[in-house]
Amino acid sequence: MKVLAILYDGGAAAEEEPRLLGTVENQLGIREFLESKGHEFIVSSSKEGPGSHFHQHVADAEILITTPFHPGYLTRELIQEAKNLKLCVTAGVGSDHIDLNAAVDHHIQVLEVSGSNVVSVAEHVVMSMLLLVRNFVPAHEMIERGDWQVSDIARNAFDLEGKVVGTIGAGRIGYRVLQRLVPFDCKELLYYDYAALPAEAARAVGARRVEDLKEFVSQCDVVAVNCPLHEGTRGLVNKELLSHFKKGAWLVNTARGAICDRDAVAEAVKSGQLRGYAGDVWNVQPAPKDHPWRYMKNPLGGGNGMVPHYSGTTLDAQLRYANGTKSIIANYLSGAPQEPQNIIVGKSGYETKAYGQR
Ligand code: NAI
Repeated sequence: MKVLAILYDGGAAAEEEPRLLGTVENQLGIREFLESKGHEFIVSSSKEGPGSHFHQHVADAEILITTPFHPGYLTRELIQEAKNLKLCVTAGVGSDHIDLNAAVDHHIQVLEVSGSNVVSVAEHVVMSMLLLVRNFVPAHEMIERGDWQVSDIARNAFDLEGKVVGTIGAGRIGYRVLQRLVPFDCKELLYYDYAALPAEAARAVGARRVEDLKEFVSQCDVVAVNCPLHEGTRGLVNKELLSHFKKGAWLVNTARGAICDRDAVAEAVKSGQLRGYAGDVWNVQPAPKDHPWRYMKNPLGGGNGMVPHYSGTTLDAQLRYANGTKSIIANYLSGAPQEPQNIIVGKSGYETKAYGQR
């Protein structure tokens, strides 16, 4: 059986640091496991266009491993050509780079390592909120430039205490963000999700649900996006919705770039409608050099907390999703049942409730 993994090139860092498991060099640590069972294991970072290793090898692979950090975009067209494909494993969380409706139609299972990096992301979300609200990035840049003008920074620096903070999506990550915000004494914690939190969980963090999205954003000083990308969330934060945000609110998105409209966000930061935007996810990855989110700034020269997609790929997270990938494949090979929480698309359709209201 052919197993294909599309991972990112780790370069010298991956040769020096074997715990960078999600790289082409370190291959999720599963080569020996697969080859000892007689399977062929192809690993590559080449993923774009008909000449790429991804397009060539997916044609006869039975298992495809991808990662959200360097997404191999498995389109309906590619799925139609992938005659042997039975199982897609996402090493990490978030399988939107796979056409899930096409996977359902072609009876291809899609599993991810649920929970593997949710704490990693939740920590990054809280950090991003703080660095935006406290105007950290321009302050650090000032120091590197050799300058010192406290008022230029302080004029746009605030405390998280006393602010209204909300999450779009209160699943594993969104809820962990709320939990981590409790000691900051925010004015209120809000959430918007079609699935209500269990009453006890909502009480434990003191979170209030707002059922209308426009009403929700109009009440928040800080909004974090923590829902999956699917038909119902693509472009959800667009020009129209941004006009309902409080003037000068902060927006953090570590969920998926395409949930927020690229140009509408850049324009909102530039005009000051958003005081800042931070996150690690982009509508195309790797992000092109001229992507406006790399350079956008608010009218006071700050408000950009963008980084490459790494919040969920700390070394701690990589160990968890590498082990999880191995265990999903081991279950598949032995015919053992999969952990229900890992199944996005099962043998007869969607099994998760998180990818849209179906
Ligand atoms: P989860 O499945 O535990 O929670 C997702 C929540 O979003 C669910 O409660 C669901 O009901 C809600 N939701 C779905 N559609 C919605 C909508 N239209 N409006 C409001 N809420 C909606 O997923 P988890 O583990 O919290 O991850 C969420 C997403 O975060 C992933 O799908 C992935 O895209 C992203 N992620 C990003 C990472 C990174 O490194 N930046 C790493 C891990 C996940």
